Amino acid sequence: MSDLKRYTITAALPYTNGPVHIGHLAGVYVPADIYARYLRAKGNDVAYICGSDEHGVPITIKAKKEGITPQDVVDKYHAIIKKSFKDFGISFDNYSRTTAEVHHKTASDFFKKLYNEGKFIEESSEQLFDEEANQFLADRFVIGTCPKCGNEESYGDQCEKCGTSHNATDLINPKSAITGNVPTTKVTKHWYLPLNEYEKWLREWIVEGHKNDWKTNVLGQVKSWLDDGLKPRAVTRDLDWGIPVPVEGAEGKVLYVWFDAPIGYISSTKEWAAREGKDWELYWKDKNTKLIHFIGKDNIVFHCIIFPAMLKAEGSYILPENVPANEFLNLEGNKISTSKNWAVWLHEYLEDFPDKQDVLRYALTANAPETKDNDFTWKDFQARNNNELVAIFGNFINRVVVLTNKYYNGIVPKPTNFSEVDIKTLAKMNEYPTIIGNSIEKYRFREASQELLNLARLGNKYLADEEPWKQIKENSERVKTILYVALQITTSLFVVCEPFLPFTSRKLKEILNVTSSGVEMSWNTIKEIQELIAPDHKINKPELLFAKIEDSEVQAQLDKLEATKLANEIENKVVEPQKETIEFDDFTKLDMRVGTILEAVKVPKTKKLLQLKVDVGIDTRTIVSGIAESFKPEDIIGQKVTVLVNLAPRKLRGIESQGMILMTDTPDGKLAFIEPENDSVTNGEQVS
Ligand code: 2FM
Ligand code: ZN
Repeated sequence: MSDLKRYTITAALPYTNGPVHIGHLAGVYVPADIYARYLRAKGNDVAYICGSDEHGVPITIKAKKEGITPQDVVDKYHAIIKKSFKDFGISFDNYSRTTAEVHHKTASDFFKKLYNEGKFIEESSEQLFDEEANQFLADRFVIGTCPKCGNEESYGDQCEKCGTSHNATDLINPKSAITGNVPTTKVTKHWYLPLNEYEKWLREWIVEGHKNDWKTNVLGQVKSWLDDGLKPRAVTRDLDWGIPVPVEGAEGKVLYVWFDAPIGYISSTKEWAAREGKDWELYWKDKNTKLIHFIGKDNIVFHCIIFPAMLKAEGSYILPENVPANEFLNLEGNKISTSKNWAVWLHEYLEDFPDKQDVLRYALTANAPETKDNDFTWKDFQARNNNELVAIFGNFINRVVVLTNKYYNGIVPKPTNFSEVDIKTLAKMNEYPTIIGNSIEKYRFREASQELLNLARLGNKYLADEEPWKQIKENSERVKTILYVALQITTSLFVVCEPFLPFTSRKLKEILNVTSSGVEMSWNTIKEIQELIAPDHKINKPELLFAKIEDSEVQAQLDKLEATKLANEIENKVVEPQKETIEFDDFTKLDMRVGTILEAVKVPKTKKLLQLKVDVGIDTRTIVSGIAESFKPEDIIGQKVTVLVNLAPRKLRGIESQGMILMTDTPDGKLAFIEPENDSVTNGEQVS
């Protein structure tokens, strides 16, 4: 078929300064994987390429923090990331790493070619320098105010808030991220890619040429940068971790990580081609190849402006056909953060839910941040599984397989007469590969996943309306046709669910026994042939496709996040400095006693106050205490407390308070009593 094409699909190379989390998955790897699997199912020639991004400042920072070498850091996370992708069913054709020799050579050669052809500006200029750390400050080594949006925490090369990419010297009030010092400046030589020279061409190619097929979020960002005017960007750095700049007079300098990382797509393709006996150049230089970059929105400038300018400067490469960038995924209402450990880590998910890869794939797709930032919640994850995968998809297939086994011993029955409903249902079924495919081709994966569910819904409705379980007694001939039709839908689901739910599709293949009968389905054929699974073919016994996720499983995940929150609060807790020194006599003036709370009621119309009756040994007195947000009155009856008994009485909301209960703060912002450790201490004992 002539519409088959060659595709190079790239997924952003993850930084190896931490494992992969659900934000990465939803933004990049799951949609790219659906796309790659879909194109393969249609018979296209696909290279789905990725690898670890192992250079750059975040890795150096992590190594410093942990007292290990950058190589140790990348070795550790490369292994974790690679394994978790594989276990999750991400079907990369190759997963490489930018510390690989092939990459160092490819990136070096790329730089040399541009250098030799005079495509760079070589310039010595004042750059930010940290005297104490004896280090130039670029990228994440420096933080300051973004000149574009005013974010005070912008990095040297990019502001995470507005996405702008800038030079470190553009930052307002820069500060070293290493020592916190205000940097000085020092002259250093670097090589700059004159982006300004590519501005006109970029505008024509993207803003004009792709105005109808690139996503609006991508076009919007590109247009905004072009409107602001592009400036030359340094593609080298004064660092000791990275690819050495391969020219004379560049000792101690490495390539900027964003110069080498996208070239990683090319080197990973080379590695794959060498292994598979393919010609890598076809995938990067043949005009008939479609190059698609899947990325998150923070990578737009690098994939739509800087890398294309590099490719254009080099001259022999194709340019991306599309750059479908996603927005961000939040987690339970907060921004996902590697440093704050606010994330669902893929390798941990796989430990907790070892056979539920497809559930996460589905939940992330159905709620993908395609047009705006979205929120992942464990409740939604549970609902997607229980109400959609179990109740709709799994339920339909299970009923069909159970009934076929029960009535026909697993043999696909011969249909007798097709009713109008049967014909309509089969016709509708035949539309789904195109419907789903069209959505995928437009990078609308959420929509595609919902259409997949609609196909299962079609099957469910058909069964519910035709009621084979009722008909079997009086009209058993009719049931043969009903189950024949239902089995066609099941087989269609097996094919079209593969990009989204590859593990489920594999299970379905076993259940339907389509391997052993030699029936090979493909996306193209299923819409053309009426009969996807033929009479007399024997299917296997039912098998559970999806299991209900219980509240306790969701709660365990929420508890994990709660523990993270607490740990962060403890870590960020600022301990108040010590107060002024007092004399011993000042201290002896305080009369503190052990007491017991006898009664507690809320003070009406207040949020914080409880009115307490406390036995302090000397007497039983009324104390008004601001603890209502931490304790329910009924829970603290009998609580042992420490009371400052000689504090001058004062009126709170009209009630005279005769003392003060001593409290301390807990990390989660609540209060805790200070009580004697030994239960036998009696009321009225002095605290000294
Ligand atoms: O943002 C990131 O995580 C980068 N490591 C992505 C790199 S994509 C490519 F260009 F390598
Ligand atoms: Zn900004």
